[in-house]
Order: sequence, then C-alpha cells, then structure tokens
Amino acid sequence: MTTTLSPTASLSFGVELNPQPLPPAERGAILANPGFGKRFTDHMALATWRHGEGWSDARVTSYGPLQLDPASAVLHYAQEIFEGLKAYRHADGSVWTFRPEANAERFQRSARRLALPELATPDFVESLRALVGVDKAWVPEPGETGEKSLYLRPFMFASEGFLGVRPAQEVTYCLIASPAGAYFAGGVKPVSLWISTDYARAGSGGTGAAKCGGNYASSLAGQLEGAEHGCDQAVFLDSSTHTTIEELGGMNLFLVYKDGRLVTPELTGSILEGVTRSSVLQLASELGLRPEERRIPIQEWKDAAAAGELAEVFACGTAAVITPVGELKWEGGSVDHRGPGHVDEVAMRIRSTLLDIQYGRTEDTRGWLTRLV
Ligand code: COI
Repeated sequence: MTTTLSPTASLSFGVELNPQPLPPAERGAILANPGFGKRFTDHMALATWRHGEGWSDARVTSYGPLQLDPASAVLHYAQEIFEGLKAYRHADGSVWTFRPEANAERFQRSARRLALPELATPDFVESLRALVGVDKAWVPEPGETGEKSLYLRPFMFASEGFLGVRPAQEVTYCLIASPAGAYFAGGVKPVSLWISTDYARAGSGGTGAAKCGGNYASSLAGQLEGAEHGCDQAVFLDSSTHTTIEELGGMNLFLVYKDGRLVTPELTGSILEGVTRSSVLQLASELGLRPEERRIPIQEWKDAAAAGELAEVFACGTAAVITPVGELKWEGGSVDHRGPGHVDEVAMRIRSTLLDIQYGRTEDTRGWLTRLV
C-alpha cells in the first residue's frame, strides 16, 4: 500500500492496487474506441463521512460494485450530488485537468443544497490525483478527433441505512473514471431541440443550480418527449412563466447574433452554473464577441431565427464541450436559423480554443490547467 498526499490536502488516499487489472491489449482496444461512459478504469477512489467524525477511510481501491444497505437514504430520498471533469494527456505524456477548483467549489455548493457534507477543494483535487496517478495508462491520447480524454466522475451519496427523512449521518464519496471520446455518438454535428412545455427541469427555490441526480432524472421525461418528436435533446423553460430559456438538462445554451452578441440565460438559481459556460463567457471578448447574461424569452429565439438575425446556437458542457444546435421544434411549429451553406464557425472556433487549452496545444494564460500526473 502506498499513499499520496498533496501539501494542502487533509485526506490521504491509500492505494490498494487491483490484483486483476485489465490486460493492456484489452485496455488499448477500449481506448481506441471509448464511446462515452461505458467502460471504467481498474480503480476508484472512496472516502466515508460520519456525523461527528468527518471524513475518513480515504483510499483508492479496485473498481467494482459497491455494497449498499437497501435502506440507504440515497435509494429513497435521492440525497446525492455529482461532478464531471476530464483528464487530458498532453504531447509530453503528462496528464492535466481543467479548472478543478471550479468543480470542487460547485460540489461544495451542491453539497450545501442537498444537506451533504462538504469535501474541501484540496481533498477533491487530491482524490483526482490519487486515482489518475494509479490509472494513468487509461488516459487516452487525444486521437484523430483531438478530443479523447479520461472523464472523471466524483459523486457523493447518503449511504446511511435509515428511512427517516433527515440529512444522512453516513455519506460515501466516490470517484470513478471512464475513457471518453465524443459524447454524442455521431461526433460534432448539430443537434435538434424540442421545447419542453409540459415539463420543467427545476423551479424557483429548488435544486436546479445543484448538480444532483434528481435534476437529471426530472429532465428525462422531457428528453423522451423530444425524442418522440424526432429531436435529439429538449430545451427547458422557466417553471413559472414557461417563457424564458433555462438549459438543456445536461448542457447550457448560447445564442450567437450576427452583430456579435453572445447571449446565454443568466443564472437564476434554477440553472446549472456550467464550468464550460463560465469559460466560454471569459473567452468571448478575445474571440471578438460581446457576452450577455440575461433572461432570454424563447420567442426571441424564434423571432431572431425567422428574421435572419441569429448566426448560430450552441450548447456546452464538460462532456460534449461545444455542440452546435440546428432546428428548434415545438408543438405545432419549428424554426431553423441555418440558411444554405451554413457553417457553425463561432461554435467550432470556441470549441477548438477550449480544446487547444485543455490539451496544452496553446498557452494556458489564465491558469486553468492543473497537472495530475
Ligand atoms: C456535462 O457535460 O457537464 C454534463 O453534465 C453531462 C453529463 C451529465 C453527462
């Protein structure tokens, strides 16, 4: 057993090596064509929190099923949060991650909202270092698409077996890792969106700004409704007036106007504060765009598309990075801002700017990268 501990972390993740790691040839076959979220590395990181005691028993151990008491509160009351970030292999073999402090801080905000214990930023980053250190052979080369990575999924859930409704007194933190290619099976191509009016993803005072499983569960019915109407994704509106754009459920949304405005819904408390969203806003001005965060009526999108004022629409998130959006459909209508010969020039430029920073192909002038290995 070896241990790793960065100077500021208070948790030390001891390492129990997997006695049966996947043979290198099988791992290589997975890394050649990883898909998204299907295969996992040889190890995972775990830690336990107990009321009155705090965090303990931090370790990296073999990836495998967790033993859960059927009364575990997470299975009944959904007291759970998660994060998503990626590890990128640079040309010199080193492995880096992107703005992990932003994910750690959002994990802490999510924890407060779901009455879970906070994991300090250095301990969060230490768990990434410990797992990726052991499973570094699982971090793919960027590949032909230039965007293969190791997707890191930290999560925390109420593992206490107790059916009373109160914050759990025993909580498990777990970090798993999954080699990833493009999030959408078809690669980077425009997705069509269905306006979900029957379902809202989140409401005022609810958990919409937290990254908790419940928000994603509540987006699924809208997603299915969209699929029934031939759309790839659903766009959710605010729950009280059903008139302003919120987000896609798993991604934030941006409208690009022909006059250079880059407009995204403001953070109202029911929208997830995406790390990619925040990075796009920070990059906008150097890409010659004027960022605006405000409420966006869905009617504005329809009108601007019909009037030929809208240049592009794109969605963003850690998993899919930047994905162009094409047609917008709703009950009884549709609009498409794309004319003949349309090119998603801005979306693709932002996409490559972000990927170039993440893969070390361009200078990281903002200190967004943290070396893991
Ligand atoms: C992300 O891209 O950051 C997401 O949240 C999508 C993930 C839930 C698969």
